[in-house]
Amino acid sequence: MFKQLTLLLLLVQLIEQSTAVVKFENLKYELNKDYMHGNIFIKSQNDKYMFGADVELMKKAEGSVIITPLLQHLVKGEYHTMLNIDLDTCKVDPLMSENSIVRTIAKEATKFINFSLMCPYNPGRYLLNDFTLDSESPLLKLIPDGKYQMQLTATHYPTHDSPPIQLLKYSIDFELYSATS
Ligand SMILES: *[C@@H]1O[C@H](CO)[C@@H](O)[C@H](O)[C@H]1NC(C)=O
Repeated sequence: MFKQLTLLLLLVQLIEQSTAVVKFENLKYELNKDYMHGNIFIKSQNDKYMFGADVELMKKAEGSVIITPLLQHLVKGEYHTMLNIDLDTCKVDPLMSENSIVRTIAKEATKFINFSLMCPYNPGRYLLNDFTLDSESPLLKLIPDGKYQMQLTATHYPTHDSPPIQLLKYSIDFELYSATS
């Protein structure tokens, strides 16, 4: 009896740990063809949604690379901006950002990428492998359940007086539903 109970508890714990709490949809993206080619995609398996990328960078990006994430929360049909910030990844590693949402997303992302978030970005293949969030994610303590849109733009300034070159841009909708599981 005791053994069975322990086993049951263990099973419940295992199931809870792997509970997916995010759904991705409506992905749009543009890559600068002079710099890179590849794909950004959403995968779904059973009820689990994953966000991925497989991109080949052909030209080195250094000097200044400004990453601008825009996170908006959809409440009653209206978007409320939760994050809109310029990050110079040649100066500050997003893992060290003063912004806690940036820092938490960056930390979460490092589990799924095989490259450094910090510039310079050398030519090579950059993978984001099945990014997802589970019920243990610290991000859930920073932003409430609900619907969101995340946009991200990366802009390259090879020298301080060069005009901006857009490297990539994407937009994705996602829903967090941790409390309802
Ligand atoms: C990431 O993984 C791919 C595929 O294994 C590899 O070709 C690439 O060199 C890796 N990138 C880095 C920066 O390690």
